[in-house]
Amino acid sequence: MSIILAIESSCDETSASIIANGKVLNNVIATQSIHEIYGGVVPELASRAHLKKIGPVVRHCLETAGVSASDLNAVAFTKGPGLLGSLLVGATFAKAYAYTLGIPLIGVNHMRAHILAHFIEDPKPKFPFLCLTVSGGHTQLVIVHSALKMEVIGETRDDAVGEAFDKCAKMMGLPYPGGPLIDKNAKTGDPLKFTFGKTDMPGLEFSFSGIKTGFLYFLQDRIKENPQFITENLSDLSASLQFQLIEMLMVKLERAVKETKINQIAIAGGVSANSGLRSRLQDWSIKTGNEVFIPEFQYCTDNAGMVAMAAEFMYKEGIFEDIESVPEARMPF
Ligand code: KG4
Ligand code: ZN
Repeated sequence: MSIILAIESSCDETSASIIANGKVLNNVIATQSIHEIYGGVVPELASRAHLKKIGPVVRHCLETAGVSASDLNAVAFTKGPGLLGSLLVGATFAKAYAYTLGIPLIGVNHMRAHILAHFIEDPKPKFPFLCLTVSGGHTQLVIVHSALKMEVIGETRDDAVGEAFDKCAKMMGLPYPGGPLIDKNAKTGDPLKFTFGKTDMPGLEFSFSGIKTGFLYFLQDRIKENPQFITENLSDLSASLQFQLIEMLMVKLERAVKETKINQIAIAGGVSANSGLRSRLQDWSIKTGNEVFIPEFQYCTDNAGMVAMAAEFMYKEGIFEDIESVPEARMPF
């Protein structure tokens, strides 16, 4: 029997969740819209917004779960990777809470939490499975041997795929985060209309800086001929870019399946909310017979529900932080 409060504050979402006896009861998320106009997350503004929102978010989380602080058995927080200032807010809050209540503190790795979000709802993958983790900061292929044993077998050498979505969106004048807007505009566009040049990396490594630069030069050339080029072609540009980014992910995923012979495939992280990627994976699953697991939308982008799920596995094993623990912006996997 355990009731855990989990806090996520690694980037620009302030989130809290309660997990009781292995079941995630709620997932309160406060998004910081302040970054939209800057074309990316401004770290200091993010820390300040977390500081302002964390109290009300946690209070609302406890109230909606019908749980009081004295019922809690542990407090979990995202220890890293992420923006250091943002992480410090969540860590300090969680520490103070756990310290005051005299209960254990659990420090969760953000990327592992994205993967373990698959254990919140059915159907759940069986170990070992392969996970393509695609977010604003990471692009990784991971063999998930168990909830606590994971192995990165491929990752990006430069930009993450979410970053490529967001930076290209910014080039088209779209606000941050541009990924969901590209997804929306792509729905009415032609995915084969334009190509932007991509880099092929060896083995299971990814690279997205080439396509990002290719996209920039492509836009600059076309705008010289027609200053209205972007507004007149927004759907086709979005659809073509999204299509090529998804193909770059699929090539590596197919290679990883071939090499590992693992046929249960999961996706995780913010970009797994992309409708093009979700349907491409579903079609691929039907064609190849590989079983594909796609998280519910609320558990794709940053959320405390996934931190709560990861904390549950750690609580069972008694993996706790000591009171002197500090967050790590570049926490290793
Ligand atoms: O996992 P996440 O919320 O935060 C990080 O840990 O980075 O991922 C955020 C990333 C952003 O780059 C955002 O643009 C992207 O996920 N994203 C999407 C979509 N929804 C979120 N990218 C493409 N299509 C979407 N529908
Ligand atoms: Zn994330």
